[in-house]
Amino acid sequence: MSKRVRITADNAEKYFFLEPFDHEKTAVIFSCPINEYNEWLFQDASRSQKDHIAKTWLLRERSTGKIAAYMSLVMDAIKLSFTEKELHNLNYPFKTIPAMKIAKLAVDCGSSEKYKGIGSFMIEAAIGKALVCNDDYCAARFLTVDADIEHNEGVLAFYKKNGFILNAELSGKNRKTISMRKDIYG
Ligand SMILES: CC(C)(COP(=O)(O)OP(=O)(O)OC[C@H]1O[C@@H](n2cnc3c(N)ncnc32)[C@H](O)[C@@H]1OP(=O)(O)O)[C@@H](O)C(=O)NCCC(=O)NCCS
Repeated sequence: MSKRVRITADNAEKYFFLEPFDHEKTAVIFSCPINEYNEWLFQDASRSQKDHIAKTWLLRERSTGKIAAYMSLVMDAIKLSFTEKELHNLNYPFKTIPAMKIAKLAVDCGSSEKYKGIGSFMIEAAIGKALVCNDDYCAARFLTVDADIEHNEGVLAFYKKNGFILNAELSGKNRKTISMRKDIYG
């Protein structure tokens, strides 16, 4: 494999642009190692967007127009224990805290061969959307994810490297996903 270009927030715009998924103008060519994630983009992203269940964003390579990655975002709320709230200096009597969730995230195999850091950049891009939401529309303190350890055991390491921590609630034994959060303002 030739040396991969490392994508960071500083150089991402040179190589990629982010656009909302639009099934009417999108020829969807995409392949990641987990078929469920390919099928989501081919079959479910359009319907879920029309039904206002998930908003999907595509990362396209500037030079080719190819889809390098996608993510689907939804609004969320997480329940935090007293100790977890203390960790984020959230001194409120209620347990439930607003969040934005990465419902789906996947990087195209061909793009992974050319670039490193696309997945991490997509998390930065999700935070960017959450910041706009906070500034102009409604509050979301955390970015959350149900890390899909059933299909990708290493995905926990990926999210930890990107600053996510485990949620006490919903992280039990025998789960197929692990609930995680990242403090957008932490
Ligand atoms: C998980 C995924 C989005 C990561 O994207 P990516 O572009 O490969 O990730 P990055 O290059 O930004 O990796 C950031 C760091 O996480 C690490 N990492 C990424 N995937 C990993 C894995 N499966 N196991 C262990 N570490 C991993 C990288 O080695 C890198 O570490 P480094 O900075 O020390 O070199 C991508 O592999 C993917 O699409 N997988 C299939 C779908 C999937 O599992 N989605 C997540 C469901 S919740």
